[in-house]
Amino acid sequence: MKILVTGAAGFIGSKIAFLLAQRGDEVVGIDNINDYYDVRLKYGRLHELGIAMGMDSVEWHKKYVSSTFPQLRFFRMGIEDKESLDALFAKEQFDKVINLAAQAGVRYSISNPYAYLTSNLTGFLNIIECCRHYPVKHLLFASSSSVYGLNTKAPFSEDDKVDNPVSLYAASKKANELMAHSYSKLYGIPATGLRYFTVYGPWGRPDMAPMLFASAISQGKPIQVFNNGDMIRDFTYIDDIAFGSIQCLDKPPVAADCPNNVPFRVYNIGCSHPVKLMDFIREIEQAVGKEAEKIMKPMQPGDVYMTNADTTKLETEIGYKPKVTLHEGITNFIAWYQSDKNPIK
Ligand SMILES: NC(=O)c1ccc[n+]([C@@H]2O[C@H](COP(=O)([O-])OP(=O)(O)OC[C@H]3O[C@@H](n4cnc5c(N)ncnc54)[C@H](O)[C@@H]3O)[C@@H](O)[C@H]2O)c1
Repeated sequence: MKILVTGAAGFIGSKIAFLLAQRGDEVVGIDNINDYYDVRLKYGRLHELGIAMGMDSVEWHKKYVSSTFPQLRFFRMGIEDKESLDALFAKEQFDKVINLAAQAGVRYSISNPYAYLTSNLTGFLNIIECCRHYPVKHLLFASSSSVYGLNTKAPFSEDDKVDNPVSLYAASKKANELMAHSYSKLYGIPATGLRYFTVYGPWGRPDMAPMLFASAISQGKPIQVFNNGDMIRDFTYIDDIAFGSIQCLDKPPVAADCPNNVPFRVYNIGCSHPVKLMDFIREIEQAVGKEAEKIMKPMQPGDVYMTNADTTKLETEIGYKPKVTLHEGITNFIAWYQSDKNPIK
């Protein structure tokens, strides 16, 4: 199976690319290695994939072959670059595509809205256009729990209305679901959108709370706690997310089983054990062995009070079952954070 993974230097993409290559799939990873956050993490993740390159020498469009997995290749490429993406699809004739490349982050979308148009809308359109012209057996793409916006009903179910986004990021993810649905209907592309719920673990994102907390607490610096700590998050460990995404990839939707005969579906993929933010912080404090100095802050624009995944659909249709408890997950995460593997500790 030849699989394209976009965002392969990212937190989730690098883990999925690793697991696919490990089980013997042929993997082509692409990423523009942008500097939205510290690029040492992106190079470090590529290094874990056996793609070792100097920080300054990553040439655009050049092929890098993994030294660990001979069937894994990497190209530095942006999904908004239609011509290059089209040439890649024409040459490689992928069986399946996993689109994880995106401008992530809720708060960043307040100050940098145009980055979301380029990667999440134009880039996503290029991906589905390529899937139209070079048909694939399955397009799996990252959506987000943020599409639930102002939803107050808990837990969040795929049947809930998601017409009330509170950030441009959330709106762009909802737009991806709509765009993919239209292409599934028009061109018969089997497509699955995965609504990821706050992912954490080794090689995590430094713009997200788990890494911000781990870093500040380790260095004895204060942490900012939004909405005075009154928040609930469905934190999901990276391995559960990566395995669950691959389980989905292996089972493309079949038109006859989908509403309106369109081979399209969305799934929540979370842990389904939402925790209070203060409990999450306590778990990190215990793993680090230090108490955090907490600066209480009001709710931030674009943020939501709660994320809480109902994963029944994914469990019954795909067989997904998250395995990692919060305690195990935080223990692994902090062990990685304190290790020499972490390039930004
Ligand atoms: N991590 C989470 O908790 C979470 C939650 C919900 C949704 N998601 C979604 O899952 C996907 C992966 O998230 P992540 O946490 O791994 O983020 P990430 O930022 O670590 O990974 C995304 C990768 O895509 C690359 N990229 C960005 N724009 C690109 C472009 N135009 N062309 C090529 N590469 C580009 C970045 O360099 C980065 O390496 C994203 O779509 C994100 O929105 C993540």
